[in-house]
Amino acid sequence: MAAHYHALRHLKKNTTYKAGDVLVLFGELFHRGYANGLVEEAEKRGMTIVRTTVGRREKDNSLRPLTAEETSNIPGPFINIPLEAGFDLEPADNGLSPVDQLKDLKLSDWESFKLDRESLHQSLKKGQTRFRKNVQLYLKELETHIPENANVLFAHLMAGGVPRAKIVLPLINRTVKGIGDRYLPSKKLWESEIGELVSASFSEVTAATFDVLVQESTTLREKIQNRGQKVGYTAYGYHGTEVLMGHNYVWQSYSPYIQGWAKLQLENYSQVWNQRGVTCTVYNCPEISTNSSSIFQGVEVSLYPLLTALEKEAGQSQKSKALLSKCQTLLKPEVNLSEMTQFTSQYLSNPIIRDHCIFEQWPQHSSREQLELMLKASQHLYTFSNGDNDILTATLSEVVFSGCGKVMLNDIAHPESPVSWINHDILAKVYADL
Ligand SMILES: NC(=O)c1ccc[n+]([C@@H]2O[C@H](COP(=O)([O-])OP(=O)(O)OC[C@H]3O[C@@H](n4cnc5c(N)ncnc54)[C@H](O)[C@@H]3O)[C@@H](O)[C@H]2O)c1
Repeated sequence: MAAHYHALRHLKKNTTYKAGDVLVLFGELFHRGYANGLVEEAEKRGMTIVRTTVGRREKDNSLRPLTAEETSNIPGPFINIPLEAGFDLEPADNGLSPVDQLKDLKLSDWESFKLDRESLHQSLKKGQTRFRKNVQLYLKELETHIPENANVLFAHLMAGGVPRAKIVLPLINRTVKGIGDRYLPSKKLWESEIGELVSASFSEVTAATFDVLVQESTTLREKIQNRGQKVGYTAYGYHGTEVLMGHNYVWQSYSPYIQGWAKLQLENYSQVWNQRGVTCTVYNCPEISTNSSSIFQGVEVSLYPLLTALEKEAGQSQKSKALLSKCQTLLKPEVNLSEMTQFTSQYLSNPIIRDHCIFEQWPQHSSREQLELMLKASQHLYTFSNGDNDILTATLSEVVFSGCGKVMLNDIAHPESPVSWINHDILAKVYADL
């Protein structure tokens, strides 16, 4: 079921989720991560935030909760049950995990690798059983943190699942950063047996976790609803973003985004649960720099046009003027923000990039020319900064994740659609409180 394109254009006034209600984070909260925006907004409203963890792996690969020391700075309520999803380290009946299958493979032989499918299937099933069991324990504990008269909002944060075999990351790095002889077409990796494993792992972590959450929380959801309270589910999606190019907002995306197929499955789960009467929405959010996205150089290029959106939508607001001035101070004295945004606009309108921004064909694989162009643009834009370019991307990323938190919390009480896009237009308006 392909998602119908629906963009949120205005911030709704909605105070359904308020002091005393509960925001449940389904995934670990990392510094700089998207969920910080939702947490900030929920805290402003006086909601209680329930946190959790993915857990940690020991040297022998066993999965454990956090230690007392590791939890000492985490505000409560905190549920210390390891919610890592996926199956890459799960031993099959022969004792070998998918990562073990890849252990002795040399980089030069990656294309000839053949998966032991039966073992893979066993690992997959074991990983699913472990995750579901931990989710059940987690939900049991969660119930003790929910007051009788509280509305509850579950926020699904999980995405990832790169199999932790030594050989996988260098191959992914070549698809997202490889130029010249190091270039590896993402299609080639995706159609290999290693690609098949990566794809299955992404599906488990990024998409199936949402389905398990909604399914396993059915009894709790119905209990809360029978008390007359609301239950909603949000998830963070990615499916390209409309950014300002010249005078118009234009949808664009970057390639390769190999999580894309799993994100489509996530959208699909949201549509299916919505049809069954569950209040849920996948919010497709813009590209930002976070712990998870920072290895994908070039993803930040689509963030700079936010500067022009702020000028267009909120140029008169003191708050956005102050932000634009702050961003200017982060550049070298001889360059200005408009040179930066003009360069980005030219880059995004380049025919090679346009060929990789076809909404109906998303997610698209990379091409050598497109990847080189993207990486060169990213490097060129870095030279504009007067020091650490990360400060500029971090500043803009914060505008985005804070705005998304606000938009999501206001929409989810009565969602416009089970899949919605949050683009630069609404974020610029929200930033300036318009
Ligand atoms: N960064 C971006 O540009 C961008 C854009 C749109 C949407 N998103 C989405 O936002 C959400 C949060 O990502 P983020 O970029 O803020 O990074 P992040 O690193 O802060 O968050 C990643 C989340 O995934 C969880 N996770 C990772 N591997 C897991 C596993 N095996 N099992 C269970 N959970 C696992 C982590 O615990 C964490 O909660 C993700 O769904 C991501 O796809 C990110």
